[in-house]
Amino acid sequence: MKKPVDIVLGLQWGDEGKGKIVDVIAPNYDIIARFQGGPNAGHTIEFNNQKYVLHTIPSGIFHEKVTCIIGNGVVIDVITLQQEIQKLSDLGIPVHKRLIISNKAHIILPTHKSLDSVYEQAKGEQKIGSTLRGISPTYQDKIGRNGLRMGDILLPDFKQRYTTVTEYHCRILEQYGYHTDKLKELHKVFFDAIDFIQKFDIQDTAIYLNEAIQQGKKILAEGAQGSLLDVDFGSYPYVTSSNTTAAGACTGLGIAPSAVGEVFGVFKAYCTRVGSGPFPTELDNELGEHIRIKGNEFGATTGRKRRTGWLDIPALNYAVMLSGVTQLVQTKADVLSDLDEIQICIGYLYEGKKINYLPYNLQDKIIPEYITVPGWKQDISQCKDVKELPKAFIHFIDTITQYLPISIKYISVGPDRNQILAL
Ligand code: GDP
Ligand code: IMO
Ligand code: MG
Repeated sequence: MKKPVDIVLGLQWGDEGKGKIVDVIAPNYDIIARFQGGPNAGHTIEFNNQKYVLHTIPSGIFHEKVTCIIGNGVVIDVITLQQEIQKLSDLGIPVHKRLIISNKAHIILPTHKSLDSVYEQAKGEQKIGSTLRGISPTYQDKIGRNGLRMGDILLPDFKQRYTTVTEYHCRILEQYGYHTDKLKELHKVFFDAIDFIQKFDIQDTAIYLNEAIQQGKKILAEGAQGSLLDVDFGSYPYVTSSNTTAAGACTGLGIAPSAVGEVFGVFKAYCTRVGSGPFPTELDNELGEHIRIKGNEFGATTGRKRRTGWLDIPALNYAVMLSGVTQLVQTKADVLSDLDEIQICIGYLYEGKKINYLPYNLQDKIIPEYITVPGWKQDISQCKDVKELPKAFIHFIDTITQYLPISIKYISVGPDRNQILAL
């Protein structure tokens, strides 16, 4: 029997094209539910020559019959959520009818964002390259049992709770020499956003989702970031502060593992990474710059340059393993269309030995081992059927597949909703 919950997640360092894939398959589902991360995410969706970037709202919001849920595992910046809702409302999207927010999702406070900045600054050369959206301090408070949750905004003493936590944050900020006076005006902006968000449907979404499962509804769990940024399994400490792998969908939504069916793993035909941290196949050269420009590899949230490099199969296999991926989706091969040859990393050389995993110590030097395949030198972005794909491109896909435990099911050949092929 088909299981009620499928998952879409990223298999690299984020920005794999998850938003696009969720939007494409959304019509097969009743509910799209984001399970972790916060506005550090930037999920891009394109259709009718329009481009939309979502940060906290699930990528199913453009579909009339879909209910969107922001799950308990997400951290919410009410100020940016308000802006996001207003932008969509201006486009005529009835967000209030389509969106439900978990009462257990933690709130990113203005002071969390300030703490993110001071902690990053204090790290100096070892900085993570955080998006500075307050993600880590908010998850710290969640785990430290000091956080405020969306359900709290409906309580009569919310202001008091806010003041207690904020005063605590200010004492830390002052130790870092931060002038907390400048936070005063942000308190007002925050409470205006709270007034706005209060009118939305805030409830126990774990109960909502499990009742939906009982009623036979289909749910798609949407991940943010990528598997190599997972707080447990990524290149720690150069990671985000949540579980970006499939297990995160269960804790981030309150659904049982037994309810999960397909796990769609999205990966680019090459790799990108924003922020610091190891990147074995990085092309810190002209070719890397070429891919960045062709692929428009600039952060959807911060506008920062994304680092670029070749596809890394050992890292990809690790991510497939961690989440039990059942459906592989490749994106952005169209970006490589004009290259004479393409390299694929199939292993690493470490202390004179061949290995196919990333070593524990990030300082250790590993040398990627590559195979080279010929480029297809032809625009594939308009291909509508597998039969139209060039032979050299099929060879590229077949070569990658040889090194993977499962085959690739979908190929995205451009940013638009319609630019996708099933293999
Ligand atoms: P996400 O965070 O995983 O949702 O990905 P982002 O939206 O941050 O980054 C992916 C970028 O690539 C966006 O600009 C998408 O519009 C774009 N994109 C997605 N799929 C494709 C594709 O197959 N080809 C090309 N050229 N662009 C794509
Ligand atoms: P989507 O969902 C790419 C990276 C940051 C930084 C590290 C920690 O669009 O794929 P954080 O702000 O979480 O403390 O930053 O994680 N990062 C992302 N990189 N895509 C994302 O999201 C990211 N979210 C966080 O650049 O290196
Ligand atoms: Mg992104």
